[in-house]
Amino acid sequence: MTSTHAQWGSRLGFILAATGSAVGLGNIWKFPYMTGVSGGSAFVITYLLCITLIGVPILVMEWLIGRRAQMNPIQAMEHVAVSERRSPAWKWLGVSGVLGAFLILSFYSVIGGWALDYLFLTGSGKFSDMTGKETGAVFEGFLANSGSLLLWHTVFMALTMGIVAMGVTSGLERASKIMMPALAVVLLILVANGIFATDSFGRTIEFLFTPNWSAVNGNVVLAALGHAFFTLSLGMGIMTAYGAYLGKDVNLLGAARTVVILDTTIALMAGMAIFPLVFSHGLEPSSGPGLIFVTLPIAFGNMPAGTLLGTLFFILLTFAALTSSMSLLEPVVALLEQKTPLGRKSATLIAGAVIWLLGVASLLSFNHWSDVQILGNSIFDFLDKLTSKFMLPLTGLGIIIFSGWFMNQESIRKELGLQGTGYQIWSIVSRFVAPLGVIAVFVSMLMG
Ligand code: PHE
Repeated sequence: MTSTHAQWGSRLGFILAATGSAVGLGNIWKFPYMTGVSGGSAFVITYLLCITLIGVPILVMEWLIGRRAQMNPIQAMEHVAVSERRSPAWKWLGVSGVLGAFLILSFYSVIGGWALDYLFLTGSGKFSDMTGKETGAVFEGFLANSGSLLLWHTVFMALTMGIVAMGVTSGLERASKIMMPALAVVLLILVANGIFATDSFGRTIEFLFTPNWSAVNGNVVLAALGHAFFTLSLGMGIMTAYGAYLGKDVNLLGAARTVVILDTTIALMAGMAIFPLVFSHGLEPSSGPGLIFVTLPIAFGNMPAGTLLGTLFFILLTFAALTSSMSLLEPVVALLEQKTPLGRKSATLIAGAVIWLLGVASLLSFNHWSDVQILGNSIFDFLDKLTSKFMLPLTGLGIIIFSGWFMNQESIRKELGLQGTGYQIWSIVSRFVAPLGVIAVFVSMLMG
């Protein structure tokens, strides 16, 4: 990315790229399992608050900074800081973002591999007529089989690297115009399955949405905050990088609304598809990362045309995961390309190989290395928590403090086309609510 570069063909192209990065395993795999682990509605409601009050302003500012600078995220932070007569050291926010992307991709690819493997398992009709106990046993055997986890992690990573090395990311984004609505349709069918084929839809709605304040604690709030960043791909410079290709005429707040609504809707639909199965089959909502792989196969194994629909679902899930994983690899490759004499292909190969290796450690933490602990967590949990709960929110906090307190507010106001009450709301949320919200979460965490 240099200062002379292509713009998005259209506003749609940009929305597709941003949504492609946002919608992924975070929505369908992570959101339901985190909701189950963190007590249902306590998590869901805090997550919705975090998305609106903290996620939206940070998303908008990442785009705005990228669009002003028209450069890669690290240079962009430095460029905008210097043009505001601030210290170039703000570029370190960009650096921590790229590091976050690097770490996340390592375990994201492992789960992408699960989706790929389940594509074939479901397609083989293996889950026909299975109960929750049986699908649970399949999943346990699946986790114990490190060889096959390794194979699929490798395939997923190779696909991601291929896409980034060949620079066909925009083609994939265009394809997502069909794939994303298709994913939404399959999810809708699964929600309908929850409504009509189980007796637990009412219980699901209660579990997800009836406020249960007693379950809210520092840990739940931090998890919800971290997930808000993860699901919107924030705090990693990814959205800053996309902003660099954005025309001046695009309304950033409008675009943020579109992306956030799509992302949140997909996550909530996933929740409404999965929990009826959890409750009606007597499964544990808090069973962790395996949740969708244990529950959805029950639905596919017992519904008409379930094998076909299940295969389609895992194809679409893999696709959604790839449009996210390529957005994670891209900034790492861009940085290597810029800082070293490596070309795009070799930069992709080297970055991908290192990330793959780190992913192998995550993968082994589900079987042979399950005893290895880092600060009381398995390797997988450690990397997930380190990035989602600490690196992303803290980098996001830096970005929102920079934009609210170290940038000229009048020029932001103009660029967002705000005035009157609209601007007052923006100003209060972006300068006070968002940064203080993140700080409050950390303070309450530290105080236990
Ligand atoms: N937002 C993506 C998802 O929900 C994951 C992701 C995180 C992608 C961070 C890019 C950056 O699956």
